[in-house]
Amino acid sequence: MNTETAKPTVLIIDDDRLLCEMAREFLSGAALKVLTAHTGREGLALCSQNHIDIVLLDQKLPDSEGYDLCPQIINFSENAKIIFITAFPSFKNALKAIESGAFSYLTKPFELKELKLAIDKCLRVSELEKAEASLHYQHDKEVGSSALVGEKGSMASISKLIETAAKSEAPVLITGETGSGKSRIAKLIHMRGNRRGPFMVINCAALPENLIESELFGYEKGAFSGAHTVKKGLLEIAENGSILLDEIGEMGFHLQAKLLGVLDEMQIRRVGGVISHPVQVRIMAATNSALEAKIKNREFREDLYYRLNVLRLHLPPLRERKEDIPGLANAFLAEMAPQRAMMVSDSDLNKMMSYPWPGNVRELRNVIERAVIHAGDGNELHVSPLLPGNVEGNKSLESMTQKETILPLAEMERNYAASVLKKMGNNLTKTAKVLGISLNTLKKKLGSTPEN
Ligand SMILES: Nc1ncnc2c1ncn2[C@@H]1O[C@H](COP(=O)(O)OP(=O)(O)OP(=O)(O)O)[C@@H](O)[C@H]1O
Ligand SMILES: [Mg+2]
Repeated sequence: MNTETAKPTVLIIDDDRLLCEMAREFLSGAALKVLTAHTGREGLALCSQNHIDIVLLDQKLPDSEGYDLCPQIINFSENAKIIFITAFPSFKNALKAIESGAFSYLTKPFELKELKLAIDKCLRVSELEKAEASLHYQHDKEVGSSALVGEKGSMASISKLIETAAKSEAPVLITGETGSGKSRIAKLIHMRGNRRGPFMVINCAALPENLIESELFGYEKGAFSGAHTVKKGLLEIAENGSILLDEIGEMGFHLQAKLLGVLDEMQIRRVGGVISHPVQVRIMAATNSALEAKIKNREFREDLYYRLNVLRLHLPPLRERKEDIPGLANAFLAEMAPQRAMMVSDSDLNKMMSYPWPGNVRELRNVIERAVIHAGDGNELHVSPLLPGNVEGNKSLESMTQKETILPLAEMERNYAASVLKKMGNNLTKTAKVLGISLNTLKKKLGSTPEN
């Protein structure tokens, strides 16, 4: 393992070369990677080329003022913690440093012990922030980053739309069944647009409305009991990046109105705040529910729908683009077992082609992953025994369509989900896993009543 990359990186920007060297020696001994720069320009160049966790920043540099550098550093390394060092301590200076984005403040001369304490504090706070952010990045990790299978074939038109969307700033609405690749497409649009900022995801179905509101908009100190400090919302944090509002159909009416305001004005007001802040963020939304029906039922605002629907991408379910199945299976095999010559057998492939994949690409991915795990060290891959419901399940689906007992999809999904649930000993978590859908989605499917 490359331990060098696992170490937190500290960048020291100070024209005092002796101080730089002493701090370097001391901090390198404390399992930190240390970079040094003696001018603001050099410092920024290092920030643009490296992942920096902590910056020790001198207030007075030969070519710049620390206060002016702070925001530029944050621009490159959004999560970097900046410790100001100054030889001119005063309350005014400390305040100015914090206002320009510094995390803490050290007065020269300082002892190396003090420096270490300040750094440890930064690292602890970063850890906490990462744990919190992982909530939003959950999907981000899952959607991966490589290209899209099917782009040249079945999804050629989608591929073109991705390119168009990447070049534009307009909102994007991505629709499609669960697991069909909506989040992945959103991320591709973000990446192909060369955005400097982060790609963030918030799932509108996962949290209660007031929490989503404060996650999205942030809040001012004292906005409600428990709001002890100011908190930036994702719309501000995703500056120069993109935000995906997942399951937008589940967003409450009040928040829908607020979001419409953001799209119109590109400004936000934190919860409990009076000042509006401009935001520079690309807004995308995804949903697996029919928003048009929700509009009819007055559950979704029509004006917001039109505002989001500027660029529309619809992902067909996997069962309607079965020609992608071999390519997807091979791509997942190459990713999961890169060193091995594993192939899906023809007979497995046949079965996979006639299976309806209610969990879409995600389900296919899960099945391949489990097949690789079952194969152990060998190269023999058996996929079909892992298809949920296996033979009986597929037969019953086939006979259903053969007898032409056409059932609404929602009802079929519910029956199927219920039968898998039974097989899994009524364990919801396990069932969701084998079906390749989230627990929430499973609950919804089990509870869903067919529409007429
Ligand atoms: N065309 C594709 N090529 C390669 N991988 C894909 C493709 N489409 C989807 N995937 C993979 O399938 C999985 C599910 O995709 P994704 O999370 O984007 O679905 P989703 O439509 O957002 O689902 P949900 O409605 O549950 O949020 C991910 O692991 C994703 O990387
Ligand atoms: Mg998704």
